[in-house]
Amino acid sequence: MENRRTTREGFSSGLAVFFATLGSAVGLGNIWKLPYIIGESGGGAFLLIYVLCIFLVGIPVMISEFYIGRKTRKNSVGAFKELNANPAWKSVGFAGILSAYFIMFFYSDVAGWVYSYVFRVIRGDFANITTETAGQKFNSTLLGPVSPIIWQIVVMAVVSVILIAGVKKGIEKVTKTLMPVLFILIIICGIRAVTLPGSFEGIRFLFNVDFTKVTSSVLLTALGLAFFKLSLGMGTMITYGSYFTEDNNMINTSIRVALSDTLVSLLAGIAIFPAVFSFHMKPSAGPGLLFMTIPLLFSKMAFGNILLIAFFLLSSIAATTAMLSLVEVPVAYFTEERGMSRKKAVILNSLIIVLFGVLATLSADNGSVLSRVKIFGKTFFDLFDFLSSNVLLPAGGLLIAIFAGHLVNKKDLTEELSNKGTLHNNRFIEAYYFILRYITPVLLAIVFISSLGVLNYLFKWIRG
Ligand code: TRP
Repeated sequence: MENRRTTREGFSSGLAVFFATLGSAVGLGNIWKLPYIIGESGGGAFLLIYVLCIFLVGIPVMISEFYIGRKTRKNSVGAFKELNANPAWKSVGFAGILSAYFIMFFYSDVAGWVYSYVFRVIRGDFANITTETAGQKFNSTLLGPVSPIIWQIVVMAVVSVILIAGVKKGIEKVTKTLMPVLFILIIICGIRAVTLPGSFEGIRFLFNVDFTKVTSSVLLTALGLAFFKLSLGMGTMITYGSYFTEDNNMINTSIRVALSDTLVSLLAGIAIFPAVFSFHMKPSAGPGLLFMTIPLLFSKMAFGNILLIAFFLLSSIAATTAMLSLVEVPVAYFTEERGMSRKKAVILNSLIIVLFGVLATLSADNGSVLSRVKIFGKTFFDLFDFLSSNVLLPAGGLLIAIFAGHLVNKKDLTEELSNKGTLHNNRFIEAYYFILRYITPVLLAIVFISSLGVLNYLFKWIRG
């Protein structure tokens, strides 16, 4: 055991742990998903509920995943195998690999749109953009059909190269260099956006708490999103936890990552919503929100093109570092449990992702080639998103919470989270343990059951 602990690859310092984990959390979720969902779900009230979900569900599950990973120093399947004699628990690991695929199928497509926008800004595509042409440009990006597939392949090639370089020379090096760059760029974009005339309305929308807009479905969305945001419920944080340093304070890390991630989301919202209002667009414009508002916002001002490049560059960074953590889950499994070389595992997984990801790419827009093909009433693109965010992630999170809160020996848990008593953080551990046992599973069960309710409804509807 000691030997495995020292020879297996891992992150080299606390700072590396922080940036890699934050790199996983910060992604298209902050810049693309959260702003448009805030827009559709009524602004500040949603934000408030979202932050509550982060504390009551997100952080406790994250700590549990860290524990499972670092304690065993194994991939998500191997970790469950080592901690529990009942082989059924291994299926949580397998389900996680499946959700990594489902997420990557559509995520790599959206990442491709972001990459292509960097390229198009440099080419000068957005020079004379108006509210109408912004929409057209976005739609043509999605429609392709060849170019979005090519961009998706470019995205997977970049991810593969970094992953093949390894945990230290790939993931650690890239996240440590690029996460600070991302922070600086998003602060610049946010500052520029709030100094725009008419930006006040956008800020007010983002922070105005109006509870009349909060319905039960908004609550569920917030919970699901908190999960997606923090990369939980599928083994990403188990896998990354398995690379953590022995002296890392994991409770601290989880709180710092969750807070920094929320800060990035707020900064992204601050950059996007003022633009929405000053160009008279609807905050509920959906998935295209970011792609239409940002070019409009920045193309009209001095140094606009530089800001525009900065924004889509930071979005590409966010998307890429998040994808590293998604693909690392099956890669770790294939190398450790199936004896594959790292290079082979990365290439195999990237091929799987491109192959099925094309289905999402070809159904992303109403006019896309495969947009008429519906499964359970959803396009491939929506189905992959739905199955991962609404079914597999909450189910995985629920099982992880039950596992750590009710099956693991508390002494073991305390020992690992306090680094064998050296941290003196007993009060934090007790608070975590209480929320994990009694609050987190109840909230997660509610999301999960209501997702299934939706499924039942769909089945009935299909049968007529
Ligand atoms: N958290 C990332 C985002 O917000 C996405 C992500 C990366 C993810 N790894 C994950 C989501 C694991 C769920 C599970 O964009």
